[in-house]
Amino acid sequence: MALRVLIPEEKIQARIREMGAQIDRDYPDGTLHLVCILKGACIFLSDLARAIQRDATIEFMGISSYGRGKTTSGEVKVTKDLDTSVEGADVLIVEDIVDSGVTLNYLTHLLQQRRPRSVRIAALLDKPDRRLRPVDVAYVGFQIPDEFVVGYGLDYAEKYRNLRDVCVLEQTP
Ligand code: PRP
Repeated sequence: MALRVLIPEEKIQARIREMGAQIDRDYPDGTLHLVCILKGACIFLSDLARAIQRDATIEFMGISSYGRGKTTSGEVKVTKDLDTSVEGADVLIVEDIVDSGVTLNYLTHLLQQRRPRSVRIAALLDKPDRRLRPVDVAYVGFQIPDEFVVGYGLDYAEKYRNLRDVCVLEQTP
């Protein structure tokens, strides 16, 4: 297997600075509650959080999905829940990638039931061609084609998360 750089580090960092500035402009005064979805989003979260100037808290959630990308009936399970209530809070879900949309469609509904003031999504990568469930992504870093990507938090069998660039993992003949 070979790696081909799809989005180099400099482009990722520049785009995240823009996203942080946009988020700062969009929200009313008050604390923003960043919810990082483990594990893939942890690298994006750490850069996005520092690109945001306003008060922000950081929380983590673990989600696992079965049959993702293959069927709309993909089952989603919370493996680690938030430690605090989000009632009345402005919540920004931070994800590395939106693929079928099954994970974020489920999660958005779940968090909305907890009566936050708002729930929005920030995703570094969006693969719109793969969507099976509707997801409203307020902040998208890059739309990408339907290729298998790794790096900058994204893995293949837990490998490559620590690459600085987003790369396509290509089968070598
Ligand atoms: C990835 C990604 C999203 C989800 C997106 O997580 O971080 O949570 O898949 O896919 P979907 O739109 O088809 O639901 P993954 O399950 O690979 O876990 P990881 O972040 O721990 O690698």
